[in-house]
Amino acid sequence: MSALLSLRGVWVEYGDKVVLEKVDLDVEAGSFVSIVGPSGAGKSSFLRVILGQEVPTRGSILLDGVPLAPECGPDRGVVFQRYSVFPHLTALRNVVFGLECEKAPLAARLFGSARRAAEEEAAAMLKAVGLGDSLHLYPAQMSGGMQQRLAIAQALLKRPRILLLDEPFGALDPGIRADMHALIRQLWSDYALTIIMVTHDIREAFSLGTRVLALDKRRHDPHAPHRYGATAVYDLQLDRKDRKPLGITVDNKGNKLEAAL
Ligand SMILES: Nc1ncnc2c1ncn2[C@@H]1O[C@H](COP(=O)(O)OP(=O)(O)OP(=O)(O)O)[C@@H](O)[C@H]1O
Ligand SMILES: [Mg+2]
Repeated sequence: MSALLSLRGVWVEYGDKVVLEKVDLDVEAGSFVSIVGPSGAGKSSFLRVILGQEVPTRGSILLDGVPLAPECGPDRGVVFQRYSVFPHLTALRNVVFGLECEKAPLAARLFGSARRAAEEEAAAMLKAVGLGDSLHLYPAQMSGGMQQRLAIAQALLKRPRILLLDEPFGALDPGIRADMHALIRQLWSDYALTIIMVTHDIREAFSLGTRVLALDKRRHDPHAPHRYGATAVYDLQLDRKDRKPLGITVDNKGNKLEAAL
């Protein structure tokens, strides 16, 4: 099977600071890739280049074998840790606004039957994320978990093939997290999504992912910490059914990686 998304020798540098160096990666359609790594390793930068918010300083990114357009396309949706919803709009208006921006990019307004259709579509998406009874609430009237559900609804509205999640559940209580895990699993399957999720929670990485990727520096220069960037140092394929490591995976030095994680 050919990869949906391929990174070839991708570097991200800010001035003389190397954040990511030589990242090579193929992501299969339908996979759920969990990304872990220390703070500052470049996980969010990695998502930003896939999203098209930032252009790698070197290397290329291919989507279905075609170089990525240098902008955020509808094939990629994103949810951040903290809420990316508009505070002055109700849940329904937040989602309708996303549709208006997409379908009427100049005016960002729809009228008549087009508007009614957008409202129905938005309401159906809100129902799919469990907010069917909260269409008319403003974000300030919602819990953190509800706001993340709203952000997920917004991201899914464009029917992205790849959903990028940057610590989407990091700010939530453990009980709410478990509900969100169930939701994201359901959406992953219902919408045949490919998901790339950054998390600090190693359990979350293993319980949700079909693959766990660790970004970290392979080499350090104590005199010039910016000199080297992070790359994919561990890459574990998990069994989709029980999400346990399939077997012993080794890195290019022959180290057993499961033990290391
Ligand atoms: N626009 C920018 N200009 C300069 N440096 C940047 C910029 N964006 C990110 N960086 C630097 O790149 C490095 C990686 O940042 P990034 O946000 O990708 O890390 P991260 O792995 O997501 O960290 P965290 O786990 O804390 O979210 C950091 O040292 C950060 O300061
Ligand atoms: Mg980050």
